[in-house]
Amino acid sequence: MDLHRSFTIREHSHRVLNPVTEEKLATLGRALALPPGTRLLDLACGKGELLSTWARDHGVTGVGVDISTVFLAAAAARAAELGVGERVTFVHADAGSYVHDTPVEVACCLGATWIGGGVAGTIDLLARSLRPGGILLIGEPYWRIAPPDAETVRACHANSRDDFRSLPALVRQFGELGWDLVEMMIASQDSWDRYEAAHWLNVRRWLDDNPDDELAGSLRAELRSAPLQHVRYQREYLGWGIFALMRQ
Ligand SMILES: C[S@@+](CC[C@H](N)C(=O)[O-])C[C@H]1O[C@@H](n2cnc3c(N)ncnc32)[C@H](O)[C@@H]1O
Repeated sequence: MDLHRSFTIREHSHRVLNPVTEEKLATLGRALALPPGTRLLDLACGKGELLSTWARDHGVTGVGVDISTVFLAAAAARAAELGVGERVTFVHADAGSYVHDTPVEVACCLGATWIGGGVAGTIDLLARSLRPGGILLIGEPYWRIAPPDAETVRACHANSRDDFRSLPALVRQFGELGWDLVEMMIASQDSWDRYEAAHWLNVRRWLDDNPDDELAGSLRAELRSAPLQHVRYQREYLGWGIFALMRQ
């Protein structure tokens, strides 16, 4: 069980594998004002930047779960670099069935709600590891502008326009599922660029170093199409945010 190599090539230089910057993640950490010793669980934690930087800045402890051995190795290295290796643990596992043995104060899934079959299922999954009074953090795309056609839907990595909601509809859904929205951090078009455009340079440099690799053909084709797809569709139509929820 591991993530396809193309992802680790594309996201080679990223610390945050989502369209929020490290600064936005830090701002959210300050906004939540978590007391030292707060325990976090991060499902699909990627390179563990949230856990490691919040451990450094706010004294939290935590567990991150991911299927990528490459990202988990980067997460462990980052935790050591920040001097928080004793406070955070990274686990190689399928997060889709992961329930922590002791309930935590904060349970997160940023940008991987497929692990629970969508927003509602992932909230249910995270809630199984959450202490009463705890906070869920869900990172999820939404339509900034309703997609006008199937081409736009596909270019935004959706199978159908129903895969995502508008921002008001997403916020309404949290309430309907029985959760109060208590904080949020929304990606900007600039922060989308920081995430997406960094892919292009990573891919280009990798292609220069690995012209004969079996993935070179598909990644070269991707490099030719991805920038236009981003500026034409994703940057315009797709928003992304992290939503902090507490049970009503
Ligand atoms: C978009 S990235 C987000 C990573 C991280 N949450 C962040 O914000 O930096 C999605 C992550 O989900 C992980 N992933 C995908 N399917 C998974 C699964 N079934 N169980 C655990 N991790 C999974 C990938 O390896 C990747 O690290």
